[in-house]
Amino acid sequence: MRIDIITLHPELLESPFQHSIMKRAQEKGLLEVCVQDLRPYGLGKHLQVDDYQYGGGAGMVMMIEPLSNCIEKLQKERSYDEVIYMTPDGERLEQPLANRLSLKENLLIICGHYKGIDERIREHFVTMEISIGDYVLSGGELPAAVLVDAIGRLLPGVLNDETSALFDSFQDGLLSPPVYTRPEEFRGWKVPDVLLTGNFKKIEEWRYDQALKRTVERRPGLLEEE
Ligand code: ADE
Repeated sequence: MRIDIITLHPELLESPFQHSIMKRAQEKGLLEVCVQDLRPYGLGKHLQVDDYQYGGGAGMVMMIEPLSNCIEKLQKERSYDEVIYMTPDGERLEQPLANRLSLKENLLIICGHYKGIDERIREHFVTMEISIGDYVLSGGELPAAVLVDAIGRLLPGVLNDETSALFDSFQDGLLSPPVYTRPEEFRGWKVPDVLLTGNFKKIEEWRYDQALKRTVERRPGLLEEE
C-alpha cells in the first residue's frame, strides 16, 4: 500500500513512521509513506498557502490553488482509492474503518491547518473526511499519523504473528484481556494462577471472561453495537 500525505509541516511526520512496526512495514516493502510538502506549491514570491477568509472572521484558510495543484500532480502519477481530509467534523475513526482502508492500494491524505481548507477542495477533490475524536488539534498531521498507524499494522505480513491484530481490542467487539510477563510474583503481586497451568482451553476461557468483564465495566456501549 502507498500512502501520500500532503502537509505544510513535513517535519511533524518524520518520526512516526521511522520506528517500530511502521518502520518494519516499510522495510518489508508492504507500506510506502510519502510525505508531500505543500509549501513549494505556494503562490508568489513568498509561496503563500493561506489567506483571510471571505466574510471576515479570525483565522487563516488554506488556499485552493496550492492544494489543487499538489493533488492534481499526485493524481497524474497514480490513481487514489480515497482522498482523505483529516478534520474534527469528519467520520469518526474506529477499528472497522481502519480495517476497510487497509484493503486499499493508494491513499492520499490531506492535513489542514489554521481554520481549515477552502471548502471547494472538500467538495471537488476529497472523497472521505476522517476525525480521530471529538477534540480539536492544531493540525491534521498527528491525526494522519494515527490513521496511517492504525491502517499500516493491519497489512498482511506487517505484524510478526499475523493473528495478533485479530485479537486486538475492538476487533471482536471486546476490549483486550489483561496480560502478564515474568516474574511470577513481584512484591507479593501474583500473576493469575490459570495463566501458569499450561491448560490452553482454560486460559482461553479465562481471557474471554476477562475481556467481557473489562468491556462491561469500561465500554458497555461496545456490547450493544452489532
Ligand atoms: N484536525 C484537527 N483536529 C482533528 C481531529 N480531531 N481529527 C482529525 N483531524 C483533525
